[in-house]
Amino acid sequence: MNKDTILVVGSANMDMVVQVDHFPKPGETILGRDFGMFPGGKGANQAVCCAKLNYHTCFMGKMGEDVFHQRLSQSMQEDGVDLRYLLIDSHESTGVALISVDQTGENQIIVASGTNMQLTPRDVEAQRKAFEEAKAVLTQLEIPLKTVLRTAELAREYHTRFILNPAPAQPLPDELFGLCDFITPNETELEILTGKSTNDPDSIEIAAKMLLAKGVKNVIVTLGAEGALWVSASESRRFSTKKVQAVDSTAAGDAFNGAFVAALAGEKDIPQAIQSANRVATFTVTKRGAQTSMPTLFEVEQFYKDVP
Ligand code: RIB
Repeated sequence: MNKDTILVVGSANMDMVVQVDHFPKPGETILGRDFGMFPGGKGANQAVCCAKLNYHTCFMGKMGEDVFHQRLSQSMQEDGVDLRYLLIDSHESTGVALISVDQTGENQIIVASGTNMQLTPRDVEAQRKAFEEAKAVLTQLEIPLKTVLRTAELAREYHTRFILNPAPAQPLPDELFGLCDFITPNETELEILTGKSTNDPDSIEIAAKMLLAKGVKNVIVTLGAEGALWVSASESRRFSTKKVQAVDSTAAGDAFNGAFVAALAGEKDIPQAIQSANRVATFTVTKRGAQTSMPTLFEVEQFYKDVP
């Protein structure tokens, strides 16, 4: 069996996005600016990112029997994602995310998970064929934790690299850490995973090493405009990224993860894959929306043509 696909197991949401001048305080009503509805969800965003970078990508997830499912699946297919492992649950609604984006491009997100939380270990198990064909398996934490664990076990069973983007963060069992070839928290997520503060470069590195001690092979901490840090048993290395004017930071982490896995699956080494991920993530913050901000290879090349 040829292992020539990326398998993303995860969430899909319809994002309802409002531009705001500032975020409301608790109890406050504010008037926003533009409203837009964009395809999103961390799993779907990452799958679209991989597919737009030209890697054959399958998405395994669950949507409802509703208009959001129609719109999301249509746009994911148009972006080249293979939806043969998409499941439908007629008793729940497709996931929805309420997002506000301020003038600096910073966001606040509330997710109503809907069908994403109905994706069971049994659903994943029933589609184990997907793992046979996968060169890399990527997942996040917008589906049930027990499903994430079963996904990681199946990846191990099929000798497939397993990458966990621990977003949104929650404390994780040691068993799961031991199955991760890569884990990709941002600083806040790293703090939640380890219980240690991540206020400065040294403390970030110390916290990342705690995850190595729990059995993770490689920890890649995404640092926003500061780039990324890679820590493994033999490495501790920082990668910078281009400074840009941010318009909307939504899904920058998803772009990083998708591009990183697409590069790894395309036989790049880890430093090359991190550099590629940084470039793609930086591109996305200059565009609005989640999946709509994911670039093609050509767009990335154009964007960086003046940068060595
Ligand atoms: O990472 C960004 C994503 O988080 C959004 O698309 C939203 O749907 C939430 O899942």
